[in-house]
Amino acid sequence: MPGRTTVAALVPAAGGGTRLGAGPKAFVPLAGRTLLEWSVDGLLESGCVDIVIVAAPADLIDRARSLLPETITVVSGGTERHDSVRNGLAAAGAADVIIVHDAARALTPPDLIRRVVTTAVDGARAVIPGLPVTDTIKTVDPAGVVTGTPPRAQLRAIQTPQAFAADLLAAAHASGAADATDDATLVERLGVAVHVVPGDPLAFKITTPIDLVLAQSLVERGLWKPASTPV
Ligand code: C5P
Repeated sequence: MPGRTTVAALVPAAGGGTRLGAGPKAFVPLAGRTLLEWSVDGLLESGCVDIVIVAAPADLIDRARSLLPETITVVSGGTERHDSVRNGLAAAGAADVIIVHDAARALTPPDLIRRVVTTAVDGARAVIPGLPVTDTIKTVDPAGVVTGTPPRAQLRAIQTPQAFAADLLAAAHASGAADATDDATLVERLGVAVHVVPGDPLAFKITTPIDLVLAQSLVERGLWKPASTPV
């Protein structure tokens, strides 16, 4: 990676964790560490991120600071995910590339982070990781009646981190974000090409109790380890 490219990582970590039912999700423990610590460790482990900014619930900012290395900036999150990302953006300074990474994707391998960042540093203005889907996906109307079945071969399940040229991400968020569930959606709306690189099953988002059981099992059975962990 060229030495002068500054990469900042924004970590939205202010979700309430309603679907997990164990309190604010980023602070839920997984094998003795919070999901937030796992996620930030992965970013640091990747070796390709210069600045990390965490958006935590307003009443848990001190707790987040106490868990994380002093070099990590912690800001207040917002009501919706995009509000939290926007608060993080305001603290990103003069970064060239900004990656946005859900705290809930605690087991994201550093290799995936490097793959996304390298593609952005090499010139792609928007890069997201995606995996082929195994289920058949249908669109439905409010009454629950099927309105379409997109060809599965064209579909990808999109993960984080998502990487963007810093000016592009700022413009995307300035254009309004109300109904977007990820940052790439905002960039797509600006008509800018978003490049998909291979995702990783281990970057799954811990959302429901089943996801947490899976994450615990992977860690306890030694089936998860960062790529740089000696074997
Ligand atoms: O709710 P969901 O799982 O889609 O959230 C994805 C990420 O966005 C999580 O890491 C969560 O903590 C974060 N988030 C946030 N601020 C919110 C809602 C979600 O930072 N208001």
